[in-house]
Amino acid sequence: MAGKERIKIAIAGVGNCSSSLLQGIEYYKKKENAETIGLMHLNLGGYFPSDIEVAAAFDIDIRKVGKDISEAIFSLPNCTTVFYPDVPKTGVKVKMGRILDGFSEHLVNYPEDCRFLPAEGEGATKEDIVNILKGSGAEILINYMPVGSEEAARFYAECALEAGCAFINSMPVFIASDPVWAKRFEEKRLPIIGDDIKSQLGATIIHRTLADLFKKRGVKVERTYQLNTGGNTDFLNMLNRSRLASKKTSKTEAVQSALAARLDSGNIHVGPSDYVPWQKDNKVCYLRMEGKLFGDVPMNLELRLSVEDSPNSAGVIIDAIRCCKLALDRGKGGILYQPSAYFMKHPPEQYPDDEAYRMIEEFISGNNK
Ligand SMILES: NC(=O)c1ccc[n+]([C@@H]2O[C@H](COP(=O)([O-])OP(=O)(O)OC[C@H]3O[C@@H](n4cnc5c(N)ncnc54)[C@H](O)[C@@H]3O)[C@@H](O)[C@H]2O)c1
Repeated sequence: MAGKERIKIAIAGVGNCSSSLLQGIEYYKKKENAETIGLMHLNLGGYFPSDIEVAAAFDIDIRKVGKDISEAIFSLPNCTTVFYPDVPKTGVKVKMGRILDGFSEHLVNYPEDCRFLPAEGEGATKEDIVNILKGSGAEILINYMPVGSEEAARFYAECALEAGCAFINSMPVFIASDPVWAKRFEEKRLPIIGDDIKSQLGATIIHRTLADLFKKRGVKVERTYQLNTGGNTDFLNMLNRSRLASKKTSKTEAVQSALAARLDSGNIHVGPSDYVPWQKDNKVCYLRMEGKLFGDVPMNLELRLSVEDSPNSAGVIIDAIRCCKLALDRGKGGILYQPSAYFMKHPPEQYPDDEAYRMIEEFISGNNK
């Protein structure tokens, strides 16, 4: 099934999220209208998942650079579920990126099979990347850098600006939600969606939904935690606590902003908690909320969520890409507030999720401000 025209994307970071996204694009090529299981939109403003194609990709791992992206997505240390193994060759080879702070030194203490194996040297220059982006015809660059890659994330944002690409920031370095960066995208009339993907049915959306339920039922939340464990490179990377500041802010703010009243920092703990190698890409979240009911009578709620982490994010990015394309078609640049609010944990403006849902449908139909 084909929509209006092709959507050419570039990817920085060919990890588990990229793997799920590319598998999904192929998987949904075979699906007709009645079978939209796992998608929020099959047809989004005239675009279908199958309209997306990868025009360029960058990584730093010697097991991925130089390979066709259809092979690179299945190379170690990627470990996510393979739900569509027959991704056809694309002719697009993964190009060397610029390493900067994408590789955390603590990783050298772990087996090579479960960590990044960076190429020697510093990698490509900005000019190299910009030239590749321009030559590829990519219209949108997706940033999938590891958490804590402050320099690398900004480097790719800079490359997008220079190459004239829209930008989707899937990770928690604040770019869309930083007014200085947002202004630069606005000035170049390039759309930007960010920051930090809110998974399809992940810990954040569930925690926010429960916070909203407590609010609507008049139950005061007094304390809460959200503990997460996983065994992929994302969780391994996050063992380096010094890289976690923005991830913690992003995840914590996503919950704080949905509560009736903000909690003191000592009464809320939201974050990646540990790396359990055998879990691979399975993420487990333990969530607890303590509150007071009628008559100040105490109550508490505990929930355990088990999800495959990367398809959970791909189920959202596949819509973010198509919203970005709609903005490009409409000549709209700068922050895309509605897609950022619905698809991201740390958008420039937070909205309750039911309002963000209404806003995103308006955005897609073109009936928004
Ligand atoms: N549900 C989710 O999976 C989810 C949700 C929200 C946010 N995120 C974020 O998205 C990002 C990507 O997640 P992932 O699971 O795909 O991570 P991953 O560890 O599987 O992949 C990261 C990739 O980036 C590459 N890389 C590292 N430094 C680089 C550089 N300087 N240039 C180019 N490539 C570089 C690595 O080699 C690796 O292939 C992470 O920051 C993660 O926190 C993921």
